[in-house]
Amino acid sequence: MSERIAYVNGEFVLESQAMVSIFDRGFVCGDGVYDVARSFNHRPFKLREHCERLMRSLKYTHIRLDLSAADLEKIALEVFNRNKHLLGPTDDYMIWIIVTRGLDVPSRNPLEAGKPTVVVYNRPPYFIRAKFYRIGAHVVLTSTRRTPPECLDPKAKITNKMNHIQAEFEAKMVDPEAFPLLLDLEGNIAESSTANFFFVRDGRVFTPRPKNILLGITRDTIFEIAPSVNVEITEGNFTPYDVYVADEAFLTTTSFCILPVSRFNGKVLSSNIPGPVTARLIEAWNRSVGMDVVEQALSHMTPVERAALP
Ligand SMILES: Cc1ncc(COP(=O)(O)O)c(C=O)c1O
Repeated sequence: MSERIAYVNGEFVLESQAMVSIFDRGFVCGDGVYDVARSFNHRPFKLREHCERLMRSLKYTHIRLDLSAADLEKIALEVFNRNKHLLGPTDDYMIWIIVTRGLDVPSRNPLEAGKPTVVVYNRPPYFIRAKFYRIGAHVVLTSTRRTPPECLDPKAKITNKMNHIQAEFEAKMVDPEAFPLLLDLEGNIAESSTANFFFVRDGRVFTPRPKNILLGITRDTIFEIAPSVNVEITEGNFTPYDVYVADEAFLTTTSFCILPVSRFNGKVLSSNIPGPVTARLIEAWNRSVGMDVVEQALSHMTPVERAALP
């Protein structure tokens, strides 16, 4: 079979046949949660941790699902294993798990919604960002602030990404390839739209404290691997000043893992990409997942694109 399969409410179906209702509250009002894991070398990474974070997002949003983290993990593995034969040697999958509150009929009352809708599917990672491993990403501050926990706690991974999408538009109006960087309401650095943010000064790594950000599983993994390369990480409240005077910075997320940052609001932070501390963390990352994630992403570029890189 040359088409991937997806899971929708208990059924394994071809992606082209996978459907959810027009009355689904996820579609009608962004009333859902999700999580995204990925594989390295065709092996899912920290899938259980992603399922556990999804369970916390469900609890916080009062979506009552009669499946456990172990059940979700089993379903996600089943989808992955059914699609694995379509992976080429240098491919991998993202593993998307989406749960919405279910149908909005006959009542609009969220307490009366039907059974939650559960969808799992695989997609390739966004290798399109590969060149930034070599040239570094441009990060731009946006006027859109990260949703504070007083409104909607950023620790929950909610399907409604409009806060982040507004920020993406703002950043991309400055530079079509820029990544947004959102502040919290107090003016401290929070995170990007789909990634956590770290910066380096005098050999030490700093990252925003957990209050106003999604607690990324990649971020957690950076904390786990940092000691193996003698890198110390400090959490705190940081302002744009701290980034302007940083020696290096990087973004972390499941798809691209660790992406070096070269510019902040147009100012060059480092022309040596990746910087020495970022490079040590990428090496430690590669060791921990058993493959070279940078080489994998670069291998998906055309020879002409690759030859144009520094
Ligand atoms: C807002 C936000 N922050 C951070 C992350 C990184 O999280 P993780 O490392 O678990 O992929 C994501 C991932 O999509 C995100 O959406």
